[in-house]
Amino acid sequence: MKSCSAAAPCSTANLGPGYDVFGLALDAFEDKVKVSRVSSDGEGRISIKNSDQAIPSTPESNSAGLVAKKMMQDFGISYNIEIEVTKGVPTGYGVGSSAASAAAAAMAFNTLYDLKIDKNRLVEYAAEGEVASAGTKHYDNVSASLLGGFVVCRIASDRLQFTRLEPPKDLVLVIAVPWLEVPKKKTEVARSVLPKVVPLKDVVHNISGAATIVAGFALKDVETITKGIDDAIIEPARKHLIPGYDSVKQNAISAGALAVTISGAGPSMIAFLKTSKNAKTVAAAMVKGFKETGIESRTFVCRASKGARLLA
Ligand code: HSE
Repeated sequence: MKSCSAAAPCSTANLGPGYDVFGLALDAFEDKVKVSRVSSDGEGRISIKNSDQAIPSTPESNSAGLVAKKMMQDFGISYNIEIEVTKGVPTGYGVGSSAASAAAAAMAFNTLYDLKIDKNRLVEYAAEGEVASAGTKHYDNVSASLLGGFVVCRIASDRLQFTRLEPPKDLVLVIAVPWLEVPKKKTEVARSVLPKVVPLKDVVHNISGAATIVAGFALKDVETITKGIDDAIIEPARKHLIPGYDSVKQNAISAGALAVTISGAGPSMIAFLKTSKNAKTVAAAMVKGFKETGIESRTFVCRASKGARLLA
């Protein structure tokens, strides 16, 4: 095989109280990545072609490039490769754009070289790509992008573990993406505003919410899931980065959303619904919320995605 292509969907991370622990793959957008062997001079060079010129194409600053670099190092691969990234996921808005490229790159590379890496380990490789935008590895978006559905990340020093739960079929999401200018390495910026010390009562609140969300996914019960989506730690620290946050949230709830939270590190907001019946009304309410602060936004109604796939 000379080349291999994979596609991976966008995702939302955190779902309120599950900072760095929860990811949900969404079927709104996807990135495609083609990895090709081009020649062998024993140097293992990586060249990157990007459909979005705003994304850096040096392997050290590109999420797909970082994944390939680490896999080449670990498996002693010295063939020169070319990576072609076709972006479908908007970059820098909190819907797992860097993760989608990283997940697709990990899957394509694994298949191209027949490395037979198990799923947990492949998520770890994909997380290498997050360093490009977050300055650090986090696993929530990449695990969802790769494995699909709702994923719980067990982050422990001894072993990482990613557990996938199939979302209920009636779970509907509305994402509102505001047209804000976002800083380069936006996730790194959004992580830098978070508190280092947290009151115990807020920790209890978030553990209770996170446990309720997992129970809701296990029971396939949208109402239980959405009862847990309330974050006392991360959102209060980040909401000032999202003009219109309060109106968007309030408007969406008034229009019938069961829960609303920041999607990943933002600035997109995501609403959770039990039916697509009132999705358009919720979407319009979110657009109106952003507009009240003079910000235009786009909305997307979507459902959970099955995760990354190989392309023929
Ligand atoms: N858990 C990460 C964060 C997700 O909130 O910084 C980034 O998409």
